[in-house]
Amino acid sequence: MNPGFLTSLYEGTNPGFAFLPNLPEVRINVVSMFPSFFDGPLQTSIVGRAIADGALEVSLIDLRQHGIGKHKQLDDSPFGGGPGMVMMVEPLAEALRPLAETHRVLFTPSGEPMTQGTLDRWAALSDLTLVCGRFEGVDQRVIDRHIDQEISLGDYVLAGGEVAAAAAIEGVARLLPGVVGNPESTERESFRDGLLEEPVYTRPAKHPDGDVPEVLLSGDHGRIEEWRHQQRLDRTKSRRPDLLSNGTDSDS
Ligand SMILES: C[S@@+](CC[C@H](N)C(=O)[O-])C[C@H]1O[C@@H](n2cnc3c(N)ncnc32)[C@H](O)[C@@H]1O
Repeated sequence: MNPGFLTSLYEGTNPGFAFLPNLPEVRINVVSMFPSFFDGPLQTSIVGRAIADGALEVSLIDLRQHGIGKHKQLDDSPFGGGPGMVMMVEPLAEALRPLAETHRVLFTPSGEPMTQGTLDRWAALSDLTLVCGRFEGVDQRVIDRHIDQEISLGDYVLAGGEVAAAAAIEGVARLLPGVVGNPESTERESFRDGLLEEPVYTRPAKHPDGDVPEVLLSGDHGRIEEWRHQQRLDRTKSRRPDLLSNGTDSDS
């Protein structure tokens, strides 16, 4: 880990970016109580490379810096009673005010599902802001006035929005030009035509755990394509029939 790199990222003033020849394809601002959560994800594999190559810029905004009073308070008990705490309007409004021109997303289980279509659209934006909730949720006035889109990672409840934001950053990064070596990789994969991907194999062709289907060794590209399509259909029918009834990716 390079602590200097991370500190400057937190402050949004990474000096490394000053030497990049081009503006990034996408700049992602992340508002979080726990910016250090992103230390690993932002330096690893495809995301790390996208940032190093200048295709992606990520700016981490530490919500605690906008907390109220000596204790930098961020949450308070809910009006009307009930369990848990609610994220207060002032710190979030303050953090989001300079980002009013960006597309502002709040992660919440109540949002629309994040799909490949969602990521395709975000990858085409120049400025995206991801807001990570914590506690029982966020004061509704923040959502009404400062959020453009509410997105869910799935039908389950996590402790915070950071995992969803990391997933979104990785999903967007791999769509940016030049980030994935062969662009066909992101064009021929699950969800692109409303189907799941077919099973894939590599060497060796024969193994005690099983042999590779003969058709893939045949060199007959027509038969291979036909087999692959049938496999995609069968797999989607048995595992995700909802995708077939939706036609294609419903969020695109
Ligand atoms: C403990 S959760 C709050 C759950 C909320 N009380 C509810 O019942 O919907 C705290 C934060 O985690 C994030 N979160 C939890 N599950 C999520 C999901 N499935 N998708 C996106 N964000 C999620 C949200 O930002 C949320 O504000």
